Amino acid sequence: MRLAIAGKGGAGKTTLSATLARLAARSGLGVVALDADANPNLSVALGMPLEASAQLGPVPSTLVSRKVGGAGLTEPIDDVLDRFSLRAPDGVRLLGMGSPAHANEGCLCSAHAVVSSLLEDLGAPERFVVVDMEASPEHLSRGTVRHVDAICLVAEPYYRSLETLRRMNALISELPVARVAVVANKVRSAADEQAIREFCDRHDLTIAGVVPWSDEVGAADRARVPVVDWPGAKEYVRAVNELAEQFGVVASSR
Ligand SMILES: Nc1ncnc2c1ncn2[C@@H]1O[C@H](COP(=O)(O)OP(=O)(O)OP(=O)(O)O)[C@@H](O)[C@H]1O
Ligand SMILES: [Mg+2]
Repeated sequence: MRLAIAGKGGAGKTTLSATLARLAARSGLGVVALDADANPNLSVALGMPLEASAQLGPVPSTLVSRKVGGAGLTEPIDDVLDRFSLRAPDGVRLLGMGSPAHANEGCLCSAHAVVSSLLEDLGAPERFVVVDMEASPEHLSRGTVRHVDAICLVAEPYYRSLETLRRMNALISELPVARVAVVANKVRSAADEQAIREFCDRHDLTIAGVVPWSDEVGAADRARVPVVDWPGAKEYVRAVNELAEQFGVVASSR
């Protein structure tokens, strides 16, 4: 199962990706977390110390060949994982996307080709791959995530966030992605939830989960502790666990 997490800037993609990854790993799946943000911070959200996070280098673009019909890895994916992933808590394997090292460096085409090739080869039924996307729609417009099985659109209950989802959903509809689902995040009231539900009804989108606002998520973040390890954030973690059940990456409690 390859699941990409998309949405407007600050919607909660990285926090959600890290929590899903850790919960799925705890339930026994082999988990790969792919930080597909050129401004990466998934490692810390997963619970890796800063010094260890600094070791995360991108999979080099020299491992990708241009084939007819698209780019592809030149080495078996298991070798690539062994060489380039870092181990995060609960055994999650973390892979990174290239990020610019200098100003005036130019575009990130090759970094996107690497992410696309990795996703193509990472598909395996016994593996859960979660892709933490950047806020920009570039992964969609380039088709970088066309090999995922599902995309979660993280929605916050305000107009600009929902408008971003509408635009992203239009791009996704042109990709061969089997499932798109919305996660309502930072929900503080029945009115918040209702606003997201009405938007989804209007745009024929399905809600896979509702995640409440929690001050404890911010508190965990400020303490640089993964939300899944923060005792006060149980309500958030419970809601994400229900979402993980929806995607079949943790066993159902019902
Ligand atoms: N359910 C929630 N309740 C309260 N705060 C939350 C919730 N989910 C996420 N946050 C907070 O929102 C902020 C942004 O979260 P996060 O970094 O996960 O978003 P993002 O979508 O990955 O952002 P970016 O677009 O910059 O990558 C963080 O301060 C995080 O703690
Ligand atoms: Mg993020």
